[in-house]
Amino acid sequence: MNDQREKFGSRLGFVLAAAGSAVGIGNLVGFPVNAAKSGGAAFLLVYAFFVVVICLPVMMAEMSLGRHTQRNPLGAYSSVSNNSFVWKIGGWLALITPFMIAVFYQVLTVWLLAYFMGAVSGNLAAMADPAYFSTFINSNSVFLYLVVLTILIGLVLNSGVKNGIERLAKALMPTLFVMLLLLTAFVLTLPNALVGIKYYLIPDMSKISPDVINNALGQAFFSLSLGMGILITYGSYVSRKESIASGAKMVALVDTSVAFFAGLLILPAIFVFNPDTNTSELSTSSVSLVFTFLPKIFLSLQSFMGFFGASVFAATFFLLVFFAALTSQVSILQVPLSAFQDELKFSRMQSVLSLGACAILLVVACTVSFGMSEYFTSFTEYGGASKSFFDVVIDVFYDTILPLNGFVICVFAVYHWRKVNLNKEMATGDNNYEGSFTQKYINIFLGTLIPAVLLLIFINTVLTKFFGYSLLSLF
Ligand code: PFF
Repeated sequence: MNDQREKFGSRLGFVLAAAGSAVGIGNLVGFPVNAAKSGGAAFLLVYAFFVVVICLPVMMAEMSLGRHTQRNPLGAYSSVSNNSFVWKIGGWLALITPFMIAVFYQVLTVWLLAYFMGAVSGNLAAMADPAYFSTFINSNSVFLYLVVLTILIGLVLNSGVKNGIERLAKALMPTLFVMLLLLTAFVLTLPNALVGIKYYLIPDMSKISPDVINNALGQAFFSLSLGMGILITYGSYVSRKESIASGAKMVALVDTSVAFFAGLLILPAIFVFNPDTNTSELSTSSVSLVFTFLPKIFLSLQSFMGFFGASVFAATFFLLVFFAALTSQVSILQVPLSAFQDELKFSRMQSVLSLGACAILLVVACTVSFGMSEYFTSFTEYGGASKSFFDVVIDVFYDTILPLNGFVICVFAVYHWRKVNLNKEMATGDNNYEGSFTQKYINIFLGTLIPAVLLLIFINTVLTKFFGYSLLSLF
C-alpha cells in the first residue's frame, strides 16, 4: 500500500472536488432532457428514490474500496481479490467505462466551449434559433474547438490531482450554483412558466414506465459518477480522518440539487417559449433542447439588462458550465490515467499522451456522427432503430454498462471484500458510523436488494435497447 499518495487538503476540499467531478453535463444537460422526455415529475420522483435507496450505498462502497486499497479501480479489484481473473474483469470494466464516457463527454464539452465563444462574440440571437444547433454541430469549426479543448485537458491532467481538480472545483461550483438559481428565478416569473412547473413537480404516476425507470437509474448513476471507478479513485485520495458516509451524502446532495434546479430552469422555459407544447411531444427530446432553450432564456434577459448585459450573463454561464464539464472530464480521465501510472509505471506525461492518442480517433468518430459522415451517422441498426456511432457509445456505456458496474461493485464489496472490511473502512474517521441507520441499511441491502434491482435494470435495458423487448412490462 502506498501511504505517500497525495491527499485532498480537507473535508471541504474533498467534497468540493468530488462534487466538482460529479456536477457536469449530466446535471445541466442530461437531467433536464431526461426529465422532459420521461414524464417530468414522474421521472424526478423515481430519480430521487434511486439516489437515496440505491446510489448512495453504492457510492459509499466505491469510496471505501478506494480508500482501503489506495489504488485505481483495476488495482483495487486485483489487490482485494488477489489477482483473481474474474474480478479483474470488474476492474477492467471500471476502467474502460470511464474512458468511453470521456470520449462522448468530450464531444459535448466542445459544444459548450463553442457556445461560450458564441455568446462572447455577440451571437446570442442566432444561437437562440432552433436551427442553429444542428448547423453548428455539423460545421468545421467544431474541430477547432476540439483541438483547443484537447490541449487544455492535457495541460490540466498534467498538473496533478490537487492542483488541477481541487482548485478549479473550489472556485467555480458556488458561482455556477448561484447563477443557476438566479436564472431559474427569472424564468419562473415569465408567462406560462406555471405549466412547466406543474409538469416538473406534480407527478402523474401512470407515466412511471420501464423506460422511465431505466432512464432514471442510468441518469442517476451517470450524474453521481457511479460505476465508473471514479469514486474508487477519489476514495484513494481521501484522508483516513474523514467520514466517507457524510462526504458521500454531501456529494449526492450537491449533485442532486444542481440537477433539480437545472430541470426547474429548462422545463418551464420550454412552455414559456413554446406555449403550445404538448407534453407528449417531449418524449423525443434530445440534448438540442438545452442548447436551444438556454440561448432563448439568455436572450430574453435583454428586457432588463440589454443585449450586452444578456450576452455577458450568457457567456459567464456557459463558461462556468464549460468548467463544470472540464472538471468532470478531467476526473473521468483520472481513472485510466492513474491506472497507466500505477499499473504500467508510466510517467504522468507519458500516460497523458498515450491516453490522448487512444481517445482522439474515437472522439472524432463521435463528432462526425451527427450528419458529417454518413458512415458514422447511420453506423448500425438494433432494437428497431438506426443508430449513429455516438448513439452506440451512449447506449452501451451510459445506459447499459453503468447498472452492470454497480451490480459488480455491490457483489464484490459484500461477498468478496466482505462486509466486516467495508464496515471497518466506513467507521474509519467516523465515530458515529457504528450502529447508525446508514450502517444497518448497508449491511442489509448492499448485498441483497440493491444488486438485485441493478441486475434487473441491466437485463431490462439490454432487452429494450438491443432487442426491442421489455422485461419489466411483464409485471
Ligand atoms: N457526473 C458527471 C456529470 O453528471 O456530468 C459525469 C461524470 C463525471 C461521469 C466524472 C464520470 C466521471 F468520472
